[in-house]
Amino acid sequence: MNMNEIRESYQADLELVKDAKELAAFWTKYLSKTGSIQGLMAGIKNVPKEEKKAYGQMVNDIKTWAQDLYDAKKVEVEKAAMAARYEDETVDVTLPVKMRPAGNLHPLTSIRNEIIDVFAGMGFEIYEGPEIEDDDHNFTRLNVLKDHPSRDMQDTFWLTEDLLLRTHTSPGQIRVMDSKNPPIKVLVPGKVFRSDSDATHSPMFSQMEGLVVDKKITLCDLQGMLDQFVKALFSEEVKTRLRPSYFPFTEPSVEVDVSCFKCGGAGCSLCKGTGWIEVLGGGIVNNKVLENCNVDSNEYSGLAFGIGMERIAMLKYGINHMGKLFENDVEFLKQFKA
Ligand code: DAH
Repeated sequence: MNMNEIRESYQADLELVKDAKELAAFWTKYLSKTGSIQGLMAGIKNVPKEEKKAYGQMVNDIKTWAQDLYDAKKVEVEKAAMAARYEDETVDVTLPVKMRPAGNLHPLTSIRNEIIDVFAGMGFEIYEGPEIEDDDHNFTRLNVLKDHPSRDMQDTFWLTEDLLLRTHTSPGQIRVMDSKNPPIKVLVPGKVFRSDSDATHSPMFSQMEGLVVDKKITLCDLQGMLDQFVKALFSEEVKTRLRPSYFPFTEPSVEVDVSCFKCGGAGCSLCKGTGWIEVLGGGIVNNKVLENCNVDSNEYSGLAFGIGMERIAMLKYGINHMGKLFENDVEFLKQFKA
């Protein structure tokens, strides 16, 4: 092959190269140590002496020419590969999307959040106490003395002689007063446990305790706060009514009713014809409880309340069995999508 033929076949071959793999094969064939262009210099030994210089020059020219063409081709192949990759990775934004169903909050979580929102707006802080309590915090310092009949009202899960699963969130009151001086304004949400199970009771349920301790706290403050609370949770038209009741840790104690938000007070199945629905218990903190926590009852007074969150959820959403709130049946829970 003379030089022109070599150039022609080199060019024709390079023309056919389409991708990096073919380019590598081409390089091996022509430009590697054993390739035909590199091999040209070896032929110099057969060239007459006086032509050696010209021959060498020619081989160098062809080498440079071949390398330049190769480099240009390499750029072209890389560009084409990049373009192909862009094409491949293009996202068609007009394609229909895969719909993923969004979840929703559990009704109890929503109720808890709503209650916290209302009271946080009045300046309450949140405190969470332990679920395993001792007799002192759960009963004695709340003025529920040993052998007091009200201990029977709460069917306690005892763990040892002294330890138990808390039967209410009221021990949170003691823990907060132990750790902080008045003024106090806290909510204590949490799970509580009682050996009790039917349509409106479950061995585990949730309460939200409220405690305010300051100078000159009265029942009026309690009613005002609870009024705001039920209006925010049920409706603006709902009214509250306090009925005398008994709890060892409050004196006086009250049961709080709301006017029936279903019938407006006329009487229906929800309010059992009375026009009123009981929603929570509360009262003025018993001086004995303040003193059990070293709070001077001559200087300070307090109000407290305990809200059963399942009861509120059942009333608000018309749920007839408390168990539904714990079964986690997705079909049931889906109904509470906001
Ligand atoms: N701890 C009571 C219960 O579980 C509820 C309660 C009533 C809490 C009156 C209070 C209160 O803070 O003042 O039945």
